[in-house]
Amino acid sequence: MDFKGTTAVITGASSGIGLAYAHEFSKRGANLVLVARRIDSLNKIAADIKAESNVSVTTVALDLSTLDAGQKLMDELGRQKLQADILINNAGFGTNARVAKEDRKKIQQEIVLNVATLVDLSAAVLPGMLSRDFGVIVNIGSTASFQPVPGMAVYAATKAFVRSFTEALWGETVGTNVRVLTVNPGATATEFFDEGFKVSPASGLAPVSDVVKATFKALDSKSSKPSIIVGAQNSFMAKATRLLPQAAVIKVAGKMFLHD
Ligand SMILES: NC(=O)c1ccc[n+]([C@@H]2O[C@H](COP(=O)([O-])OP(=O)(O)OC[C@H]3O[C@@H](n4cnc5c(N)ncnc54)[C@H](OP(=O)(O)O)[C@@H]3O)[C@@H](O)[C@H]2O)c1
Repeated sequence: MDFKGTTAVITGASSGIGLAYAHEFSKRGANLVLVARRIDSLNKIAADIKAESNVSVTTVALDLSTLDAGQKLMDELGRQKLQADILINNAGFGTNARVAKEDRKKIQQEIVLNVATLVDLSAAVLPGMLSRDFGVIVNIGSTASFQPVPGMAVYAATKAFVRSFTEALWGETVGTNVRVLTVNPGATATEFFDEGFKVSPASGLAPVSDVVKATFKALDSKSSKPSIIVGAQNSFMAKATRLLPQAAVIKVAGKMFLHD
C-alpha cells in the first residue's frame, strides 16, 4: 500500500510495538498522530522521527482507559484539523493474577482500554474512511485470543473480543478500499511484561520488528485477510488449540500463567 501523505493515528506509541509502527509508517511517508499517556516520551520520539524524515508528527497525551477517551481523541483530531486515514489501535496492557485476586479497578481499565476504546475509535473513524473509500484499521490482538488463559483471564478475553470484533468488521468492509486487520503477536520484547507479571513467557520474546514486518506484509498483499498471527510457531500453536481437547488446552495455559 502507498501511505505517502496519509495520516496514521497510532495509540500506545510511546513504547514497544506502537513505537515500532510509528517508525515504519514515517519511513513510508505517513504523517503521524502519536497517542499515549507519557507525553515526554512521545515528544522525544516525535523529535527523533522528524529528524530522520519529512513527515509531520503530532503528539496527544491521553489516558485511553476511560469511557470518554475515544471522543476526547476525536475532538482533538477535529481541533487540529487532522483526519485518521490509518488507525492503529495498539494501546493495551495485561494483568496477571487469579480473578479472585485481581484489582477490580485495574481490570475495568484493562477492559476499557483493550476493548471499549478500540471499538469506539474504530466506529468513530470508519464512516469517514468509507465515504473517502480509503482507510486502514489495524487492531492489535494477541495469541492469547486463541484460548482462555487462567492467570490472565481478563486479558485473554479482551483479546478474543478484539479478534472476533475485528474479523466481523473485516466482513463489513470487504470489497471497499478500507482495509481492516487484526494482528495477533505472540510474546514480544516490549515493556508489556514489566509491570505486575510474575511469570515469563515459555517460548522467549520475539523482536517488535517481527510484528511490524508481518503487518506490512499483510497490508501490502493484494488479497485482504481479516487476521494474521505473527510467527510460524505461534501460528501452529493457535491452530493446534482448536484441535486439542479444550480442558487440556486451558490447563496447559494455566500452567504457564498461574503463579500461585
Ligand atoms: N508484548 C507482547 O508480548 C504482546 C503480545 C501480544 C499482544 N500485545 C499487545 O500489543 C500492544 C502493545 O503492547 P506492547 O507489547 O508494545 O507493550 P508496551 O511496551 O507496554 O506498550 C503499551 C503502550 O500502550 C500505552 N498505554 C498503556 N496504557 C495506556 C492508557 N491507559 N492510555 C493510553 N495509552 C496507554 C503505553 O503508553 P503510556 O504508558 O505512555 O500510556 C504504551 O505506549 C498491546 O495491545 C498488547 O496487548 C503484546
